[in-house]
Amino acid sequence: MTQTLGVGTPGQPAAENGPTSQRVDSRDWVPELGYRNYWQPAVESRRVGKKPVLVRMLGEELTVFRAPDGPKAISDICPHRGARLHTGKVLFPGTVTCPYHGWTFDGKGKCLAALTDGPDSRMPEQVSVASYPTHEALGMIWVYLGDKSAPPFLEGIPRTMAEATGRDFSVQVFRFRQDWATNWRVTMDNAIDAAHAFYLHRPAAWMLFDQVPAYVKVKMVPTEFEDPETFVSYRVTEGEPSAEYQHVGRWPRSQWWRRRKNHFSGSNAIGLPGVFLLRGPRWTHVRWAVPIDKDTTRNYMWAIKQGSPLARALFTANFWGWLRWVFYYDFSAQDKWLTESITYESLSHEKMAATDQTVQAWRRLARVAR
Ligand code: FES
Ligand SMILES: [Fe+2]
Repeated sequence: MTQTLGVGTPGQPAAENGPTSQRVDSRDWVPELGYRNYWQPAVESRRVGKKPVLVRMLGEELTVFRAPDGPKAISDICPHRGARLHTGKVLFPGTVTCPYHGWTFDGKGKCLAALTDGPDSRMPEQVSVASYPTHEALGMIWVYLGDKSAPPFLEGIPRTMAEATGRDFSVQVFRFRQDWATNWRVTMDNAIDAAHAFYLHRPAAWMLFDQVPAYVKVKMVPTEFEDPETFVSYRVTEGEPSAEYQHVGRWPRSQWWRRRKNHFSGSNAIGLPGVFLLRGPRWTHVRWAVPIDKDTTRNYMWAIKQGSPLARALFTANFWGWLRWVFYYDFSAQDKWLTESITYESLSHEKMAATDQTVQAWRRLARVAR
C-alpha cells in the first residue's frame, strides 16, 4: 500500500526543531482507517445465516451473504437509488436482491437482473457494485479490501493465527469481540505501550498479587514467533519494585501483598495490519484491532491453547471460570476506559519517554506495510 506519510518519514527520530519548522509526528504515519492490503477479520461465521448482514470495517459498508461456494462481500449501497443491500434477501442462490426494486447482484457484485425493470432490461449489463475476496477460518469470515491482489490467506495472516487453523484438534481457540469508542490507532499504541501495564493496570485483579515494578526500562528485540519484518517486540530489561522520586518521595510505599513473581512471563509482538500477541508459557492472547470508522474500533480477541486433551480441558475450565472475567473483561476494561478518553489528534505534539520507543516502533512499521 502506498502510504501518505504526512509530515516526516518513518524511521527517523522525532525532530525537535524550532517553532517555525514543521515537526515530525509519527502519529501521521499510520492510516486513520487502517491498512487495506491485508486480510482482516470481518464478522463471526455464526452471525451470517440465511440473511445478508451489514459489516462495517475500514470505513466501508459491506453486505456479507452466503453463496453455495462460500461467503461473499460486496458494497452495501445499491447503485440504482441507494437502498441498502443488506436489508434485502437471498432470493436466488448465490445472489442478494435489493429490497427496493429487486435489483439482484451476485458475489462478484455483478447485476444479474433488475426484476422490476423487466426480463429485457438493459440495466444489468451496465451496473455492478464493488466486491471483495473472502475467506472463512477460525470461526470468522475474513475480507480483503486491498487494491493489490490478495495474498493466500494462510500467508497473509500472522503465523500464530495460521497455526491455530490446523485441523488436528490439538488447538483450542476462544474468541471475543469488544467495541471501543476510539480510533484504532489509539488502541494499537495502547497494546504495545510498555509502561502503562505498571500503572494503569496496577489495581487489576489479574495482577493484584504480582510484584509490579514502579518503573521499567525496555529494549526492542527481534520478534521470535512472528515475521520480524512486520512485527516488533520489546523486553523489560530493568525495573524496581519501589523507588525514591526527588520531589514526591517514595512510591509505591507499601506492596507487602504483592509477592508473586513473573506471573505472566511471556513474549509480546505487535504487527501489521493491527495485531498484538502475548505468548505466555501456557496460552497465547491475541488482540486484533479492526477500524470500523474513524471513532470506533472492533477488537477481536482470541485465547489460543495448544496441548494434550487434558491440558486443554483444564484450560477450558480455567478460561470459563476465571480467565475470561479476570483478563478479557476486568483487565481489558481498563484499556477500553482509558483509550476511549483519548482523541488521537488531541495533542499538538507528544512527549515521548524512553518506554514509548515501543509505540514508535509499531508506528514505524508503516514503512513496510503493503
Ligand atoms: S434502490 Fe436498489 S433496486 Fe432500487
Ligand atoms: Fe493495557
